[in-house]
Amino acid sequence: MKNTFIGIMLICFFVGNNLRAQDVKLTLDLSKPKADVSPRLYGLMTEEINHSYDGGLYAELIQNRIFKDDAKTPVSWSVWAGKDGKGTISLDNKNAINEALTVCLKLEVENGSGPVGITNEGYWGIPVNPKTSYRASFYAKATDEAAGPLTISLESTDGSVAYTTAQVQLIKGGWKKYEVKLTTGENVKPATLGRFVIAAKQAGTYWFNLVSLFPPTYNNRPNGNRVDIMELMAGMKPSFLRFPGGNFLEGDFFDTRFPWKTTLGALENRPGHPGCWSYRASDGMGLLEFLEWCEDLKMEPLLAVYAGYTLKGDHMDAGPFLQPFVDEALEEIEYVTGDVNTKWGAKRAQDGHPEPFKLKYIEIGNEDGFDKSGSYDARFTQFYDVIKAKHPELQLISTIGGRDPLGIRFPIKTRKPEVIDEHYYRNAFEMEADATHYDDYDRSGPKIFVGEWATREGSPTTNMNAALGDAAWMTGMERNSDHVVMSCYAPLFVNVNPGGMQWKSDLIGYNAVASYGSPSYYAQKMFGSYLGDKVVAIRGQNIPMQTHNLTKKDSIAGVTPTSFPSLFYVATRDSKTGLLFVKIVNASGKAQSVTIDLQGAAKVKSDGTLIVLKSDKPDDTNTINEPKKIVPLNKNVKNIRKTFTTVFDAYSVNVLQLQVQ
Ligand code: AHR
Repeated sequence: MKNTFIGIMLICFFVGNNLRAQDVKLTLDLSKPKADVSPRLYGLMTEEINHSYDGGLYAELIQNRIFKDDAKTPVSWSVWAGKDGKGTISLDNKNAINEALTVCLKLEVENGSGPVGITNEGYWGIPVNPKTSYRASFYAKATDEAAGPLTISLESTDGSVAYTTAQVQLIKGGWKKYEVKLTTGENVKPATLGRFVIAAKQAGTYWFNLVSLFPPTYNNRPNGNRVDIMELMAGMKPSFLRFPGGNFLEGDFFDTRFPWKTTLGALENRPGHPGCWSYRASDGMGLLEFLEWCEDLKMEPLLAVYAGYTLKGDHMDAGPFLQPFVDEALEEIEYVTGDVNTKWGAKRAQDGHPEPFKLKYIEIGNEDGFDKSGSYDARFTQFYDVIKAKHPELQLISTIGGRDPLGIRFPIKTRKPEVIDEHYYRNAFEMEADATHYDDYDRSGPKIFVGEWATREGSPTTNMNAALGDAAWMTGMERNSDHVVMSCYAPLFVNVNPGGMQWKSDLIGYNAVASYGSPSYYAQKMFGSYLGDKVVAIRGQNIPMQTHNLTKKDSIAGVTPTSFPSLFYVATRDSKTGLLFVKIVNASGKAQSVTIDLQGAAKVKSDGTLIVLKSDKPDDTNTINEPKKIVPLNKNVKNIRKTFTTVFDAYSVNVLQLQVQ
């Protein structure tokens, strides 16, 4: 009797609400905004990995320009021989120009020979475009009998076509710098791959160093960045840039940490350093270039300072031996923020940027949970006290102490960091199963910075299934962005050529001539572009579940969730425009009808926009040859009312933009 009564009441309730028991419903409460959306919620993380800068964003086209990439052979360089030309090249370390340029390339041209030179094929080819000016420069010297003209050109990889040529007159004597402009005509096919040549006519011995070639760069910055990749990032509207790593900050050993001091000023003074991702870093992307990248994309710099732990497991205990690293961090902060009357502010002005940069967040180290000695607590404290004493305005980020960081955890006991950096690399199931991760976080603890996260499915760039996992995860971060104040995906970049990648599943892919965004890139672009300033309370009913029979081998993070939702959601509102953004992720293979109830809305405009990213199959993806297979599409949605029903496609990430009062 009692059960029958409850049944009748339930039927009345669902009919009264026009909703059947199994209908999926999202109820928003617009009358009480929950919390502010962090203005820094979505940013970027970067380091030299996967040829992110050399052979990536940094526009230099010559690979191994100071001949230090390999101690034994001039990798990426070969002899160029014209008709009857005979000569050899070798590394020479007896003709240093200065402390940075200690190794040069020696070219010996045989007597009675035709033209001979040196050639570089760049990073998997040099892109040649029509009506384009390239700035070539190099240091050269020659034996007296060899002084004469040098021909500089960009030509096809087989040498049959010269796209552009210039000459310089080699002056007798020691090292001199030569600069020429190479301009292509309009008949060059766009995005042709070519090679760079410096050729000599006379027999004798020649030496070359710091051979450089730049195409036009973003904002025409000298020593600047590739235009196409900068434009892809600009599209994401990132609010900050975390740099210089990641592992790249730490280096394998103390003396291969990110050497910010030798990344400053003229390229002549940058020796580069062994990176930690299997290739040498030119450091053309130096500390000032990171900051100018921030300036160009209107991002706040989030500077990570070296904190005395190396990737190979060495650490420097807190105390006097750690102090030089603390001092170095203070100097670095001064380079970024100091006025021109300070030592390092003056150096920045001398490097071309008198205006100080705004800086709010400093991260101390990277993934120090891997330091099994447990030394981080004391190291953090030493950095914290010194930095805070001089810069009380800075917010300091600890790399350990979160609920689920990578590696072994030694929570910070001695000081309370303002923010904790947590990293999550998982597969789509793991991301989706944990999309509520931050819902019950202790709000009294430090704020959270999700400084590296990614759904690792697809290679070299991620596929649609990864985008679904990412989007599910982002709904959780966004819903809790009163506490999760910043986040950035990693890795950001990959050069898709064979050998270009060290870490699979990346956000943006490229080769020498083109670049593209993965489905994950577009999901992030959607989340970052349609972001209000207030979180709106949202409650789901009858949310469909997915069930799986997973084993450990299906896992990246070591968890094997079996039953979890397949629909994820978050809502935010722009308090100035009144626009409401409802983000809905349908990770299932079935279209899903959802009733949306806008409680507390006085008026709702009947036309809205639905932005959809979707694919037929979860492992569909974008590639360098098919870069726009999966991109967001905008649709008009009509008949929006306070309560309305809309269908969300299978495997889709959606933003519903509504005008509400
Ligand atoms: O993003 C790749 C690497 O993952 C980062 O360098 C490191 O911080 C993390 O372990």
